[in-house]
Amino acid sequence: MADEAGVLVEATDIARFFDVSRPALARMIAREPRRTLRAVDGVSFAIPRGRTLSLVGESGCGKSTVARLVVGLYRPTRGRIGFDGTDVTDPAARGSGRGSIRRRMQMIFQDPYASLNPRWRVGGTIAEPLHAFGEAGGRAGANERVAALLTQVGLAPADSEKFPHEFSGGQRQRISIARALASQPEFLVCDEPTSALDVSVQAQILNLMKDLQAQFGLTYLFISHNLAVVRHMSDTVGVMYLGRIVEIAPAETVFRAPRHPYTRLLMDALPDIAMTGRARVPVGGEVPNPISPPAGCHFHPRCPLANDRCRRESPVLREAAGTSVACHAVEEGRA
Ligand SMILES: Nc1ncnc2c1ncn2[C@@H]1O[C@H](COP(=O)(O)OP(=O)(O)O)[C@@H](O)[C@H]1O
Ligand code: SF4
Ligand SMILES: [Mg+2]
Repeated sequence: MADEAGVLVEATDIARFFDVSRPALARMIAREPRRTLRAVDGVSFAIPRGRTLSLVGESGCGKSTVARLVVGLYRPTRGRIGFDGTDVTDPAARGSGRGSIRRRMQMIFQDPYASLNPRWRVGGTIAEPLHAFGEAGGRAGANERVAALLTQVGLAPADSEKFPHEFSGGQRQRISIARALASQPEFLVCDEPTSALDVSVQAQILNLMKDLQAQFGLTYLFISHNLAVVRHMSDTVGVMYLGRIVEIAPAETVFRAPRHPYTRLLMDALPDIAMTGRARVPVGGEVPNPISPPAGCHFHPRCPLANDRCRRESPVLREAAGTSVACHAVEEGRA
């Protein structure tokens, strides 16, 4: 990717499978084999320091699983995850103290209410990582840090005395961001951070995240099912379908010249971003069951360009002119 020397986070062929078999006895009576769900199956990317990589795709395509793999909430079935040159695939490599990699990466979730303890005052929630990583610097020091963090996310120092239910959805997401920033991380994984919010509030939170990125030089892995949301956030956009990246390119290129038929479908579903006056087309069909994905190209049952080769042979990501696309039609020049 663009700036090889400055890569902070790198995923190489990561995969995570889940065993979703029924209990052994039921399986034996029904003579059923074990069933494996390939939530993520061979995803690679590199995020340069201070940049944003977004992953987009419909629900169920494996975005949250990638997020959880990267922050170490899941162990990969296969592949390697590098952070600032260290292989962190083994949880032990992430450490736990002040100098640890665990401190240097934090995650923001879709539902801030679920990630904030309803019985804790906001100040306590924000200060918790300070204590966990031994950075609180006594009670006065912690209070001062919490006040500064609340101000940074557009809230008031006095808000530290309140409880989560006293805030709106957008304000609660600001509190989660303040908590995530408490340990002074370099890297934030943001999993649908605005998907539960009204459109106008979404824009405010996205702007806040962009401002914080500029101020602190943060690196983001940003996850959304909505291409419109990632448009102004991303340096690079990766489009996921059924556990794989089908197209990855600089954001500007993806929006100007989407190449994969699935990316184009997602674009067509957007409200006329290119101002072409084209009518909006909803994305047709449904994401297949990842336990038994279609043979060949996983996208073929929904693809207007599918042919026999597509039904047989799985396309691999190939780079041309700065865009990597996994599609036979693109490769054959018939897309
Ligand atoms: N812990 C789990 N056990 C079994 N299946 C899972 C688990 N987590 C996710 N999945 C499945 O993996 C697929 C990808 O899920 P997820 O990563 O949450 O996708 P997304 O965030 O894009 O909606 C889905 O089919 C989901 O049902
Ligand atoms: S490989 Fe074939 S089915 Fe898959 S996206 Fe390309 S044209 Fe469509
Ligand atoms: Mg998700």
